[in-house]
Parts: sequence; C-alpha cells; structure tokens
Amino acid sequence: MAVSSAPGKVYLFGEHAVVYGEPAVPCAIELRARVGVEKRADSKLRIHAEDLSLDGFTVEYGGTADGPPDVDVSETLLTAAMGYVDGAIEQVRDVTGETDVGFDVTIESDIPLGAGLGSSAAVAVAAIDAGTRELGTTLEINELAERAYQTEYEVQGGQASRADTFCSATGGAVRVEGDDCRSLEAPDLPIVIGFDGGAGDTGELVAGVRQLREEYDFAADTVDSIGDIVRKGENALAVGDLEELGRLMDFNHGLLSALGVSSRSLDSMVWAARDAGADGAKLTGAGGGGCIVALDSTDETETALSYTPGCKDAFRAELAETGVKRLE
Ligand code: MEV
Repeated sequence: MAVSSAPGKVYLFGEHAVVYGEPAVPCAIELRARVGVEKRADSKLRIHAEDLSLDGFTVEYGGTADGPPDVDVSETLLTAAMGYVDGAIEQVRDVTGETDVGFDVTIESDIPLGAGLGSSAAVAVAAIDAGTRELGTTLEINELAERAYQTEYEVQGGQASRADTFCSATGGAVRVEGDDCRSLEAPDLPIVIGFDGGAGDTGELVAGVRQLREEYDFAADTVDSIGDIVRKGENALAVGDLEELGRLMDFNHGLLSALGVSSRSLDSMVWAARDAGADGAKLTGAGGGGCIVALDSTDETETALSYTPGCKDAFRAELAETGVKRLE
C-alpha cells in the first residue's frame, strides 16, 4: 500500500475571480487528508472513508464504484467527495496506462468537506500521488498538481482554477493566474479559522457567479476589482504588512458578498473577528457556508468566534510549508 497526505488551504485573496483569469493567493495550512491506495486483484474500486469532517459526522463509507454509498448523513457531500476519488483514480489509470487496475482506497481527513478549506483538492492530490506510487510511478510535483486540477475540472463540470490543487501539491503560499502557478515567500501569518459547521456546493456557487457576471456589468467589474486587490495583497504579503493584508481581506470579503457567495453565518463570523480586533477577515473558498479566515496575533478572535452564534468551531491554523507528503 502507498500512503500520501496533502494539506488543505485558505484563500488570502482571489477565490472565484481566479476562475476568470484573475490572480489568487491561497496558502496551505496544516490540516491534512491522508489517502492510502492498495492495488486489488480485480478491477473494482472500493473506497473507505473515516472522519471526513473536523466536527461531527464521522462516516463509514463502504460504497464501491459499482454500488451506491451506504450513508445516512451528508450524502450529497460524501458523494461529491467520492467523485473526486473516482476522478483521481482515473488519472492514476491514465498516467500509468493500467486502465483495468482496481484499488482499495482509504481516506482519513482533518479537513471539513466543502467548507472552503480545500478538502477535495487535498483528497485528489493525495489519491493521485499514492495511486501512482502504488503502481511504481512517482510524479513530479507540477504534473501531480496538473493531474489533480484535471480531476477538479472534470468533477466540477469544467469550472475550476488551478489554485486549490497547486497549493495543496506544493504547500506554502502560492500565486495562481491562469496556468501560471508559482510559490511565494510568506511570513508566518497569524491565521484564525471560524467554521459554521456547514458547507457550500462549489460547482453551484461558481455557476452562480458566472451567471451574475454575464448578466450584470457590476459583477464583471467586481471580479476585476478582486484581481486589483490580489495584486495589492501580494505586495503586502511580500513585506509582511499585516495591517494592509487585513484591510485588503476585508475589501475582498465585501466584493465576494456582492457576488452573492457569502451567507449570514459567514458574515457574522467575519464581523465577530473584526470586532475582536482582527487585522481583517473574509470567507475562504467557494462560500455559501463553511469557513472564514482572519488574521489576528492575539487570542481575541478565536475567543470571540467561539461565542458567536452560527460559529461551530474556531481554531488557529499553521502554514503548511510542505505540500504532498509521501508517508509509505
Ligand atoms: C474554491 O475553493 C475556489 C473557487 O475559486 C473555485 C476554483 O478556483 O476552482 C471558488
């Protein structure tokens, strides 16, 4: 069996706009998905997933590619997660040319599903890495990232950027603009995450922004403005200017709200973080529910979030310097 892990991420800036060619700056965090892949004697795919959430629904998934999953909670989310595994295994078969090979896949993850912390990218990266290694091929990181991107692109119906998957494969802070993906120097940021216990449907949210952008000029302008904020944010990150980073994150959140991807609980957590003295706060990822990211060197934001109605969990996250880890 080969086992790999890959980290989740937060977006400091630029989600959604990155889908339209604007730059984005996500940053990998030390919450990981670990995927074990073992070759089977037949061509079946059996997926076993435990604890696919940070808070709550621990689920045994005993489904196979031939049968429906046997789950009673968050079925939609789990089915979506299993779609990423299926897609990742297709990439493994494609890379290695072993088109009929079957696998037992085991997933353990610290990253809540669909909550803006890059669970699907981490699962795709770790599954492709472990699957190819199980068949004797070790992919170079850029190819691994590209293959994981292809997985997301297909599962999300042709609507995905390279940001999540590149960040998860390489670790650290990265900048992605179209197919130009690179690592950035980043200071150790005081990242606090607030989680509302919920999730958003990335495909639906991306489609909603696309429609808005086609229908209203303000939405197209908003996407361009997010790009401007990202460019300023890169400069603030390079010099470690937390105050400016925070201010730009606040602006970015406002623009994401204008695009309709925030929610009552995300807004409540963002405001609680700001009121507690955070340098700035915004939703992270596709939105609709899930997580916010705030910058605060004190304990105030974490404490304030833990008392905020709608916030289920608040915690500090460390930057993950390393992307994919080859564990076995
Ligand atoms: C989702 O984590 C980030 C989005 O920008 C979609 C993508 O980049 O693929 C909303």
